[in-house]
Amino acid sequence: KKVVLAYSGGLDTSVILKWLQTTYKCEVVTFTADLGQGEELEPARKKAELLGIKPENIFIEDVREEFVRDYVYPMFRANAVYEGQYLLGTSIARPLIAKKQIEIARKVGADAVSHGATGKGNDQVRFELGYYALEPEITVIAPWREWDLTSRTRLLEFAEAHQIPIAKDKRGEAPFSVDANLLHSSSEGKVLEDPADEAPEYVYQRTISPEDAPDVATTITIGFEKGDAVAINGEALSPATLLAKLNDLGRENGIGRLDLVENRFVGMKSRGVYETPGGTILLAAHRGIESITLDRGAAHLKDELMPRYAELIYNGFWFAPEREMLQAAIDHSQHYVTGEVTVKLYKGNVTVTGRKSPYSLYNQELVTFEEGAVAYDHRDAAGFIKLNALRLRTTAARARKAQ
Ligand code: ARG
Ligand code: SIN
Repeated sequence: KKVVLAYSGGLDTSVILKWLQTTYKCEVVTFTADLGQGEELEPARKKAELLGIKPENIFIEDVREEFVRDYVYPMFRANAVYEGQYLLGTSIARPLIAKKQIEIARKVGADAVSHGATGKGNDQVRFELGYYALEPEITVIAPWREWDLTSRTRLLEFAEAHQIPIAKDKRGEAPFSVDANLLHSSSEGKVLEDPADEAPEYVYQRTISPEDAPDVATTITIGFEKGDAVAINGEALSPATLLAKLNDLGRENGIGRLDLVENRFVGMKSRGVYETPGGTILLAAHRGIESITLDRGAAHLKDELMPRYAELIYNGFWFAPEREMLQAAIDHSQHYVTGEVTVKLYKGNVTVTGRKSPYSLYNQELVTFEEGAVAYDHRDAAGFIKLNALRLRTTAARARKAQ
């Protein structure tokens, strides 16, 4: 028996590693991904070796480009936002981790996969729906739903008994739980649990506060090609490099903070603090380029489909047929979404100040208040309004009669 564990190198997943070895007596294969969480990966290798994992069973991969190109960018083509505000930074990373684990399981001939998500959250669902969608017969081990290490004390005792090194700052209760990648950082639990209390400033880790941001605006231009950001200020950048650069710009200008109470798929409400600096800029800019390149009918249909699409990602259905159907429609809509958007970054705000495209549908001659020799005859508007008013007049007449 072999199991592929999504391993961060932290205390919790190290305990899981040992627990899998001792409880299931199975060979553990670790997978550690660089998703741009801003942590060194080599310590995770050292730690896995220390815990008895054979070098050939330690997989460490930089997946930053794949993450942004194949997950973040497709999602941003849809302008996906969950419950009006959440940019889905954790949700969109889980399917990629699941996919990599399954690939490794195939490579090493493992029959099981495991993760460190709790039994109360969304992440367990996302990981496991991903596993099953890609490998229908896989065995899933979710230690948090099985073991009896239900308190911090017991977890630490287990760690000590198995010579798992515990960082000094991990001895006490962590002040809150964090998940981070190139797109966002999320913080939940503990000091954040009461939604009535403002999050302390120390919770924020990748943006300065808008109050502390510079008094002078930063203006940048983002280039788009078929719906994807490809350049900043005329410099072509790969997806991950571009997002990293937007993150820096967002951080300095206090952009992308969110304090939200959301509905988890499993049925409970939870309070989270999110920081999505680059993503917040990207969303505004993408809407800016779409505003001149998308036809109204296409744009409005996209906006109607968006909440459904966002909910699928939030609930863990990235690899589901209906997500792929929606993606095909969304991708199709992006054919002419090419051009440049200028945005101003200032104290937590992103303001689109300019847009241009070789495929713009914006017709200055058509909207101008000056008289123009174009295919718009004012007199046509009279009939247009009259026919649209017909049923309104009919209902109004009925109301009058019924009085
Ligand atoms: N609530 C967010 C989501 O479901 C983030 C979950 C993980 N965050 C964390 N701090 N552990 O996508
Ligand atoms: C967890 O429960 O592991 C994190 C929170 C979530 O998945 O919603």
